[in-house]
Amino acid sequence: MHPSATPKIRLPGVKHVIAVASGKGGVGKSTVAANLALALHMQGQRVGLMDADIYGPSIPIMMGLGTVDPNKTVFPLEKYGLKLMSMGFIVNPNQAVIWRGPMVHKAVSQFLTDIAWGELDYLVIDLPPGTGDAQLTLTQTAPLSGAIIVTTPQEVSLIDARKGLEMFRQVRVPVLGIVENMSYFIGADGQRYDIFRHGGGRKLAAEAGVPLLGEIPIDPRVAECGDTGEPIVRKYPDSPVAKAYLELATTAVKELQKQGEQPALPTLEI
Ligand SMILES: Nc1ncnc2c1ncn2[C@@H]1O[C@H](COP(=O)(O)OP(=O)(O)OP(=O)(O)O)[C@@H](O)[C@H]1O
Ligand SMILES: [Mg+2]
Repeated sequence: MHPSATPKIRLPGVKHVIAVASGKGGVGKSTVAANLALALHMQGQRVGLMDADIYGPSIPIMMGLGTVDPNKTVFPLEKYGLKLMSMGFIVNPNQAVIWRGPMVHKAVSQFLTDIAWGELDYLVIDLPPGTGDAQLTLTQTAPLSGAIIVTTPQEVSLIDARKGLEMFRQVRVPVLGIVENMSYFIGADGQRYDIFRHGGGRKLAAEAGVPLLGEIPIDPRVAECGDTGEPIVRKYPDSPVAKAYLELATTAVKELQKQGEQPALPTLEI
């Protein structure tokens, strides 16, 4: 079936659905998704965060939540003002979920349709890493308004980010832009250090004709906050990383508003 022939799920109460994706694993998608969702909330929006990573859910730990009894719990859960859904609320993230593709698709579809998201300005979806069948099905069925691609500055990550861009183009989902994560480091001396070769995100964005939405510095507190269940944008709102996330939220919203006013983007050659 042609990708665009798959019927989309309708979410009438949700104004915008934003997917956070990357080709490569471990580049900081979930961290970006969680902090972006919170940043939007801090800017006065009604926000939901859906963890579409069925095999490796990380939103529960990042938000300081664990498993609950699904028979006694009404989903989505709420924390820090966000509405949250993750497989990690139902299955212990340490226990491997071994499901075949169609079951994963069903679980993700149910997250969208059977959960009472209510009225939301933004639903942020944290996608699993990669550009395989699971990601493709999701991008076809979820009513995505736009996608944000996360990359780190290294070449290996950029190559996979290109694949991510191409996947969204195939299913006609607008790419709002690129986020370069772990972009640089600000030392105790206040100096900026480019640990990895910085600037790959900007180059990729220029090449693909999409905006560079933000450059997020490296900060050990990001990982600390992820592990202790309170994202950095909330815990240390004055840190450079938090400021970068708040700026990202503003820029992403602007890009989203531009959609519909723009002609189709040229196809990317990879
Ligand atoms: N800007 C940053 N500075 C320091 N550490 C970071 C930063 N961004 C992410 N991290 C850390 O890097 C690790 C990977 O991040 P994360 O889990 O968000 O990546 P991911 O792309 O969602 O991974 P996966 O592909 O497994 O889903 C985490 O320990 C996180 O705390
Ligand atoms: Mg993740």
